[in-house]
Amino acid sequence: MKAKVYIDKNNIIDVVSDELFGSFIEHVGRSVYNGIYEPTHFTADENGFRQDVISCVKEMNVSCVRYPGGNFVSAYDWKDGIGDINTRPVRLSLAWKELEPNKVGVDEMMKWAKKSNCEVIMAVNMGTGTPKDAAELVEYCNFPCGSFWSSKRIEHGSINPYNIKYWCVGNEMDGGYQIGALTAEDYSKKANEAAKQMRIIDENIELIMCGSSAPWSPTFPEWDLTVLRNSYNNMDYLSVHAYYDYVGNNDISDFLAAPKAFEKHILKVRNICDQVKEELKSDKNIKLAVDEWNVWHTAVGEKHETPWSTGEALIENHYDLADALVVGGMLSVLINNCDRVKIGCIAQLVNVIAPILTKVNGEVLKQTTYYAVKMLSECKGMKALVHDLYVENYLSPTHGETPYVFSSVCYCEKKGGYVGYFVNISNEECEIETTFNEIVSVEDHVVLTAELSDKNTFEKPNTVIPVSNKYSTKNSKNIMVKLPKYSINKIIFTGA
Ligand code: AHR
Repeated sequence: MKAKVYIDKNNIIDVVSDELFGSFIEHVGRSVYNGIYEPTHFTADENGFRQDVISCVKEMNVSCVRYPGGNFVSAYDWKDGIGDINTRPVRLSLAWKELEPNKVGVDEMMKWAKKSNCEVIMAVNMGTGTPKDAAELVEYCNFPCGSFWSSKRIEHGSINPYNIKYWCVGNEMDGGYQIGALTAEDYSKKANEAAKQMRIIDENIELIMCGSSAPWSPTFPEWDLTVLRNSYNNMDYLSVHAYYDYVGNNDISDFLAAPKAFEKHILKVRNICDQVKEELKSDKNIKLAVDEWNVWHTAVGEKHETPWSTGEALIENHYDLADALVVGGMLSVLINNCDRVKIGCIAQLVNVIAPILTKVNGEVLKQTTYYAVKMLSECKGMKALVHDLYVENYLSPTHGETPYVFSSVCYCEKKGGYVGYFVNISNEECEIETTFNEIVSVEDHVVLTAELSDKNTFEKPNTVIPVSNKYSTKNSKNIMVKLPKYSINKIIFTGA
C-alpha cells in the first residue's frame, strides 16, 4: 500500500499539554492495594509503595494521575483516609463491593505522585458527598495554614500545601450505576455550589465537570448540553470518557477502527461545546478532559469471586498488539485535537485495564499498550501539526470509513525536528512518501510490531517491544518510509 503525507511546521494545531499523557489510579481491584501499594513486596519503600512500579511509571513519562476514582469516589469519604494509618476505619466500597482499608489516602497518594514525577488530578465525591466535603478537601490540600483542615494536613506531615491544580467535580454522575447518580439539572446545581465553595478557598484551581460517561450513553448529548448550559461559567473542562472493545461481530478490522469512532466522538463533543459557547455568547472555550480512555475488554473478570475483599483481581485485561494499535490510534486522535483536549488519562495505570501489570510478591510487566503510550510521550510541550495524510480507507461495519493509517506529527522547536507517529492497522506494509517544506533526514525509526495476538507475559516480557532502526536517509524534502503491517512507528526527522 502507498500513502502520502504533507508536513509543514508552520501549520500548527497547538502545543501538546503535559497533561495529555496522564493516567488514572482508582481504589478498585489491584490498582492501589496489591498494585502500587504492597508493603511486603521486596521493592516496597517506607510508605509501602512498590518502587519497581514507580520506576515503570516514571519511564512511561506519566504526567498526572486522576485519583481516587472513578465510581469509587462517589461513595468515598476522604476524611477516612487521613491521620494515623492504624486507626483508620475499614469501609465498604459500594461501587465495587470491596473492603476499603483506608491504608492509602490523600497524603500517601501525594507522596507516591511526588516519587513518580506526576501531578494528582483530584476527584471529589458528588454522590454521597456534599459541596462542603469537597471544599474541605480543597482546604486540606491547598490552604497554606491556620485553618482546621490545613492544620490537620500539617499535623499529618505536610507543612507545605499540595497546591493541587486540577479537580474533577464528581465522576460519571449521569450513569444509573453511579452511587448518588443525578439528573443533569440536579448535577449542575450541586456541582455549581461545590465549584463556588472550592474556588473561594483556592481561586487558582481548574475544575472539570462530568460529561456523559460514554459515547453510547442514552442521555448523550442532552446531558452534556444541559451541564454546559448550566455550568459554563463555573467550570473549565468537560470530562469525556471512552472505552472501546470488540463489537458483537468480533471482527478484528472493525475493532482496529475504534480510533475512528473515538475521533468522531471527540468532534461531536467539541461541536456541542461550541454550540453552547455560541448560545451563551461567551468568549471562553471549555477545554476537554478525556480523563478515562482505553481499550476495555468488558467480558473479562467484571465480578469479584469473593465480594467485600481488598486487593483482589478485577477487570484485568491482558493486552495484545491489536489493543496497542487501537491505543496508539486513540492517542493520535488526542494529539490531533490538542487545541481543545488538554487532559488525557489512559485508564487505568496499574492492573485494572492497565498498561502495567504486577504479580503479588513478584515482577512488574509492561504490556503492549505501555509501549504504545511511552513511544509518544516525549511529544509533551511540542507543537502538534496539521498534516494531510492520503491513504486508502476501508469500510468498518460499525465505525464507517476508516483510514488504514492513524497519525500525528509534532514539531520540536528546540531540536529543530519532527516526531511522526504512524499506526498502520492494515495487514500490508505501507510505504509513505513524506513531504516537508524544508530539507530533513531520518534520525531514528522506532517500530512496535508482532503478530496481532502477541502479548507480553511474565515469562516472556519482551515479546512485543519497540525496536529502534537507525538508518540514514539522504537530506531531502521528500522521504520514503516503510511502515510494516500492523505496526506503530515513531519516526524522528531532523532538519538538515
Ligand atoms: O475505570 C473503570 C471505571 O470505568 C471507572 O470507575 C468509571 O468511572 C468508569 O465507568
